[in-house]
Amino acid sequence: MNARRGRFLTFEGIDGAGKSTHVGWVAQRLQARGLEVVVTREPGGTPLGERLRELMLGTPMSADTETLLMFAARREHVGLCIEPALARGAWVVCDRFTDSTYAYQGGGRGVPLPWIERLEQQVLGSFAPDRTFLFHLPPDEAARRRGTARAADRFEAEDLAFFERVDAAYAARRAAAPGRFLVIDGRQVIGEVRASLAIDLDAIVEQSMT
Ligand code: TYD
Repeated sequence: MNARRGRFLTFEGIDGAGKSTHVGWVAQRLQARGLEVVVTREPGGTPLGERLRELMLGTPMSADTETLLMFAARREHVGLCIEPALARGAWVVCDRFTDSTYAYQGGGRGVPLPWIERLEQQVLGSFAPDRTFLFHLPPDEAARRRGTARAADRFEAEDLAFFERVDAAYAARRAAAPGRFLVIDGRQVIGEVRASLAIDLDAIVEQSMT
């Protein structure tokens, strides 16, 4: 890999596992190392992607349509935002990416994995994250943490069995590419999570400089 190209880091996990709390902190730590950092999210990250996000989170649709819209938004996101940032040397920190489609549409909704694989291939080629922080919390505990603090979207409103399937699909993703994932135990206190993230980030930054 070109040493001056940025790195693509993603955050994954079931709703309620605690990932989003750490996205900004990771960005700040990388910035403190003198790196340009772009923070973004999926679905979303572009003006069109954010409109698609609103649709996907709020409008009933078939699982196949949902999958296609995720990839439409992703194509836009990679082409307009992620790839140009990486090419100019910026690091991209992204809240969710294709692993979410395997977990939620594949695991949760039962969309056949070979179809998702084919779409991924057609839309992204071999483009994939350099590192994925997978926040893990048992689905029943994540449900308790989501609680009733805010109105649930179409995904958060799903039942425990759905999130158990999502959790299992994440485990399968990790097993298929163990080197890409760092699993973070969502039951740890914030300081412990940040300590693990810090060690990992420092190693990635050092490696990118050699
Ligand atoms: P999330 O960023 O967790 O939203 P928030 O923290 O604001 O609730 O993600 C929104 C939802 O989108 C989440 O429930 C998972 C879902 N999702 C998919 O189902 N497939 C995908 O490919 C992506 C990127 C997200």
